[in-house]
This record gives sequence, structure tokens and C-alpha cells, in this order.
Amino acid sequence: MKRFGILTGGGDAPGLNAVLRAVVKTAAHEQAAEIIGIEDGYDGLVLNGKTRPLTPADVHGLLGRGGTLLGTANRGNPFARRVSRDGADVIEDISAEVVTGFERLGLDGLIAVGGDGSLRIATELGKRFGLPIVGVPKTIDNDLEGTDVTFGFDTALGIATEAFDRLQTTGESHHRVMLLELMGRDAGFIALHAGVAGDADVILIPEIPFDLEAVCAKIREREANGRRFSLVAVSEGARPLGGRPTFRALGDEIAVARLGGVAAQVGEAIERLTGKETRTTVLGHVQRGGAPSPFDRWLATRLGAAALRLALAGGWGRMVGLRGQTIVDTSLAEATATPKRVDPNGEPVRTARGLGIVFG
Ligand code: F6P
Repeated sequence: MKRFGILTGGGDAPGLNAVLRAVVKTAAHEQAAEIIGIEDGYDGLVLNGKTRPLTPADVHGLLGRGGTLLGTANRGNPFARRVSRDGADVIEDISAEVVTGFERLGLDGLIAVGGDGSLRIATELGKRFGLPIVGVPKTIDNDLEGTDVTFGFDTALGIATEAFDRLQTTGESHHRVMLLELMGRDAGFIALHAGVAGDADVILIPEIPFDLEAVCAKIREREANGRRFSLVAVSEGARPLGGRPTFRALGDEIAVARLGGVAAQVGEAIERLTGKETRTTVLGHVQRGGAPSPFDRWLATRLGAAALRLALAGGWGRMVGLRGQTIVDTSLAEATATPKRVDPNGEPVRTARGLGIVFG
């Protein structure tokens, strides 16, 4: 029997529990491996970290549950960790402790379920220490290479699309411009897909810097045609031509910057320039919490089972993913080398433009 650890790192995404369940159940059913759950991402492997064996009884009822049974950590990068030394806060590389933790647990390998940050850490741990790791991609942002889609994205898309449907009826009744700020960090996939699915008139994404005049021209044109309301999808990372994204909090060596607030700014500018009443909604973590969609349950289950099989086959340094309808695996280093972004000239953007949607 092999002994594998599993951890979930970075922002949670609907489907994480479905991955855990698939790994644990498949390992037990095929009597192939013992699974050790590592709590709070890589933190669970360092000194005083928490771990526990996971059995099928621990994962009962988890398929449709959001969040992660194991907890996660946003600031758990062992290569740059804030620690207290002689009463002072310093940033240290404590990655060797992860290796010690791995050895202490007597693991044969590790399954790391994470987004670009956690999987880059996995890649580095493999490169530097030869730590045997298999990756599973998760993020609502869908900004990872090596897979056509990440689990969590479809759920977020459903929630964002429903929000547009709801904003449309109230916006139409009050003849307002309704803006919806969506997550995605530096990738506009959620805003683009939900914008098209939710019948938005304007979609602002990080990959296409916007011109406010073009946005206002679209709203005026709709007004002239008797369409007295408009829907505007704003990705949190969107920025004006020649401008910068809007941050709620700046990042440092430990934490990534927090985006947010751009939709309110755009809304105020639209109101000033067009005279139309505007309302802004920030959908926030509603996009990330709660039950995964059927597609995400299905994808997460397949990826979990595939990750276990890859670990059993010794496919270290690789990440499972979906290509077309098939589960494949790819090098972790390749998957994390460059983040995936919306192609400004690709078919999805051209399709949206063809419908009359303006990107500013
Ligand atoms: O990467 C997932 C994500 O939800 C982004 O879309 C968003 O910018 C960020 O995480 C929010 O992070 P936090 O939960 O730390 O506020």
C-alpha cells in the first residue's frame, strides 16, 4: 500500500471536496493507497501542521458541498513565509520544513490541489527537492494552462449569469445602467462568458483595456433605439486604456494584491457622461462559495481519480487536466509557466463583438 498526502491550497473553488472524495474513495475501493489529509495547504506540512488519515467515512456527503474539508491558506508559500524571529517579523524561505514534514509522515507522494500559486510552489518543491508531487488544477478564474477548463469556473459562471438575469429585469424596469463586477483576477474569463450568457451590452476585461467614451457611446446608442437600460460586465482586473487596475489592497512578497472597485468607478463615470442612472453590484465571494454545479462535480471527480492513478503510476511533476472530453496529464512546469488569458482576437471575443457587445 502506498501512502499519499493530499492538500488544497489558495482560494477555494466549488469542487474541491469532490476531488478529495474521489481520491479517498478510489484509493480505498481499489485498495491502492492510504490517504493522509493535510490541513490548510502547505502549512499542514510544516512544524505544528495538522494532518489526519482520510477514510471513505470522512468524505461521505461531500460531493455537493462547497469549500474544502481540509481548509486552505492564502499566505502559505513556504518559499516566502512571514515568521517571528527574536520578536521581529521577517520573511524566510522555510521550504526545507515542508520536506521534513513530508518525510515525517512517511509519504510516498503528494497530491496538491491548487491554482497557479499553489501549483507553482509544487513545481518548485519538485525541482528543488525532488518532492514527488502530482497537481490538480482548481480555480474559478480558469486562468491555468494544461487544461481546457478548471473546476469551479462553471459554478461561478452559473452564479454570475443568474445575477445578470436578475439585474436585467430590475434595470429594465428602472431604465438604469446596471454594472456587475466579477472575479477573475487578471483573466477575464468569468466576465466574458457570463457577460455573453447573461446578455450584457458591454464587457470589460483585463485583456482589453477600455475607452469610457466607447462604453458611453454604446449606452447612448441603445437609448436612441429605445433600449433604455444596459447591462455592463466588469471584470475586477479591467483597466482603462493607458491606466492601471483598481486595487483594494496592494500585495507584497507574501500576499497577492486584492483587486476591486473598478465597476463603481466606471458606473460613476457613465452616470456623469451619459446622465443615465447607474447601479453597481459586486458579486464577490458568492461566486466561489456553495455547491458545485453538476459539471464541476463531474470534472472534479474525474480529476481526483486521475490524480490518484497518476500518483500510483509515479507520474511526479505532472498535472491532470481536461482536453476536449478526455482527462490528460501535462508537465506541472509547463502548465504553470505562463498564465492563461482571454485572447482579445479569439473566437469567443469575436463572437461577442459580432453580437454587438462592446469591449470599450
Ligand atoms: O483566484 C480566485 C479569486 O476568487 C479571484 O477571482 C479573486 O480576485 C481572489 O481569489 C479573491 O481572493 P480573496 O478570497 O483572498 O479575497
